[in-house]
Amino acid sequence: MTVRPDHWWRHAVFYQVYPRSFADSDGDGVGDLDGVTAHLHHLDALGVDGIWLNPITVSPMVDHGYDVADPRDVDPLFGGITALQRLLTAARARGIRVVMDVVPNHTSSAHPWFVEALRSAPGSPARDRYFFRDGRGPGGNRPPNNWISVFGGPAWSRVTEADGRPGQWYLHLFDAAQPDLNWDNPDVLADFARTLRFWLDRGVAGFRIDVAHGMAKPPGLPDMPTTDVGLLAHRDDDPRFNRPGVHALHRAIRAVVDEYPEAVTIGEVWVHDNAEFAKYLRPDELHLGFNFRLVQAGFDAAELRDAIDNSLAAVGLVGATPTWTLANHDVERAVTRYGGGAVGLARARAMALVLLALPGVLFVYNGEELGLPEVALPDAVLQDPVWERSGHRNRGRDGCRVPLPWSGSVPPFGFSTTTRTWLPMPADWAELTVACQDGDPGSMLALYRRTLRLRAEHPPGAGLSWLPSPDAVLAFRCGDLVCVLNAGEHPAALPEGTVICASGPLTGELLPPATAAWMT
Ligand code: NOJ
Repeated sequence: MTVRPDHWWRHAVFYQVYPRSFADSDGDGVGDLDGVTAHLHHLDALGVDGIWLNPITVSPMVDHGYDVADPRDVDPLFGGITALQRLLTAARARGIRVVMDVVPNHTSSAHPWFVEALRSAPGSPARDRYFFRDGRGPGGNRPPNNWISVFGGPAWSRVTEADGRPGQWYLHLFDAAQPDLNWDNPDVLADFARTLRFWLDRGVAGFRIDVAHGMAKPPGLPDMPTTDVGLLAHRDDDPRFNRPGVHALHRAIRAVVDEYPEAVTIGEVWVHDNAEFAKYLRPDELHLGFNFRLVQAGFDAAELRDAIDNSLAAVGLVGATPTWTLANHDVERAVTRYGGGAVGLARARAMALVLLALPGVLFVYNGEELGLPEVALPDAVLQDPVWERSGHRNRGRDGCRVPLPWSGSVPPFGFSTTTRTWLPMPADWAELTVACQDGDPGSMLALYRRTLRLRAEHPPGAGLSWLPSPDAVLAFRCGDLVCVLNAGEHPAALPEGTVICASGPLTGELLPPATAAWMT
């Protein structure tokens, strides 16, 4: 196996900024890029190496930027391209790199290509950039196949043709406002390559590639074996994703990115099977891939160990670098996922120590460093298209996207100057603000800062070895650091060594339940 060169990103800690929710500089209730620039000191104090920005390009915001109408401009809502330039300059001055989200699988229905396709006849070159098909059954009034949208409902919508009659159907694996691109059409790669170069030329450090396991579709678009897959869940036998043809596309994308030797690509790869996952990380495909096994594991030693082992085994197949995360903008906040309340918080603190001890690349989703819980929002304010498309069966992802509390004792907690924030902020978040946690050595923020500093002092290296431990305890060594997590119900003995950090108070020589410690 080839030894990969040691690039900056191979040990990087990335902070994921959901731009709508990080900080609002202009008082419209929606976060923006000048808001990020104004709060870079927060990221500096955390000690992160890079920022991953969720989509900021021009968009009707049906899926908050994952519906791209112009991939080579910044939406005015976020301050336009000059705001990005200000952010890039300020971040560079602090040694923080900025990675952007790009969305190759689909565009917005407001993208000029799709608008042109709707105006064009069936079989036209404009329609060939997407998946337009005749329907099945009498009058073509049934969708072309049984595929369902990841957000719920059918993956096909019918258009009205120029003569005013119901016509062809187009494919959208997500919202109807996100038509899937046909990557067999050469225009699609040519345009995507232009987009990559456009941003790399402007100083962006790389890309998080949305739905990197999508893009390629099987010839003939065969039916799904089962449509009972659950929202936002992916199965390995699903014809909508992870088709063999996707790898040629990644090789073509990589060839463009390799024109910029420092640039990094991180794919969103919802593929469970290790061998299949590893294919995306071959030396001429993606640099990095999100592995979601840790996010999917409960607070259980066996599950966590299995998630860590499998994530390492997957990248080990091709000599790639592992990536780890406990949360992002698509999943429930960690504090809530681990049980909520004081228990959830204690477990999330312990899991922060596990995360930050792991070898490779880390992603911290904004607000995790504050221990924010998922917010139970009222129906009337929900914005995620999942809510409508699932027929109100799934509340969607808004609960993990509520704006960040910075200071003060009432909403909007310094996030904005208006109380009319794009999602309402809970009135009881005063103790979760950055300002409040800043001065408290026992806070989640202090824990993240301390452990990130210690991680820099004790780099985990490349390997991980398990140490003997009782069933309910995880103990592993990375570099000169030992991390011990007690996921059980009884205090556990600590191995030999010196505790340099703990997620909660120790009981004498014992590690209490829902607590982790770092030792040297
Ligand atoms: C994955 C993104 O993380 C998610 O937020 C988005 O809705 C879908 N891809 C569609 O682009």
